[in-house]
Amino acid sequence: MSAEIEATAADSGAKATERFRSDKSSALAVSADRVSRLASRAINALVETVLEEKVTYEEYNALKTWLIQVGETGEWPLFLDVWLEHAVEEVANSGRAGSKGTIEGPYYVPGSPVLESPATLPMREDEPGTPLVFQGKVTSVAGTALAGASIEIWHADDLGFYSQFAPNIPEWNLRATALTDSEGFFRIHTVQPGPYQIPTDGACGQLIEAAGWHAWRPAHLHLKIAAADHQLITTQLYFTADKHLGDDIASAVKPELVLDPQDKADGTGREVTYDFVLATAQ
Ligand code: DHB
Ligand code: FE
Repeated sequence: MSAEIEATAADSGAKATERFRSDKSSALAVSADRVSRLASRAINALVETVLEEKVTYEEYNALKTWLIQVGETGEWPLFLDVWLEHAVEEVANSGRAGSKGTIEGPYYVPGSPVLESPATLPMREDEPGTPLVFQGKVTSVAGTALAGASIEIWHADDLGFYSQFAPNIPEWNLRATALTDSEGFFRIHTVQPGPYQIPTDGACGQLIEAAGWHAWRPAHLHLKIAAADHQLITTQLYFTADKHLGDDIASAVKPELVLDPQDKADGTGREVTYDFVLATAQ
């Protein structure tokens, strides 16, 4: 396990940047009108901050130095997903029926191994952490069970590290796509993730330290729930009693997304049930 400690912001940042480029940044088209409007507003917000706060040359150059470093270490996906994605998600999903969504974050990888339910996530023989059975049902808003719905799940290990972004973890560790059975049920065997800390050795970490903030996200499962003719949900689930539920640095916790796992009667870990309701495709 100690090898994971060698994880660096520059390494996970570079991988997150590469992942974003290959999945999402091809052929993006934003109209000139929108670019002009949005860029003007964003620049004006910075200009107003400078004028109102009477920003000095020293502070301006500290900002320049920092922005250059964010780019050099590939930390833009981390920065944006921590401090901005929650607002984009709020806009995207406002008024949508069914289960709540929240941010995707920088560590999603498409194409994880597809498993029938009950499924056990790929994990190491000595995978640390409390065993967790995560189960539930996927239905439409009308209450119809959705058979063959896919539940893509990915999460950090007990130490808060993600496979494919931290070193020395098998490729698909704690990542899979489970399919619901003929009655819409799924059951996934995994281990409870540890809380996640924004890498502290990079530019984002420097900002957090310089500002006197903390770097933690509460422990979470990431999920994408999809079924034919229904809207995809990208979400996360958290754990009750986590001390960072109230101050997630990524502002992505919602009260509907908190699990309360119970000890299993046979003493082999914990279990929790959570049902997903998918809105009809538009
Ligand atoms: C970040 C990491 C996460 O695991 C997450 O869920 C959201 C954001 C990040 O480091 O930016
Ligand atoms: Fe995460």
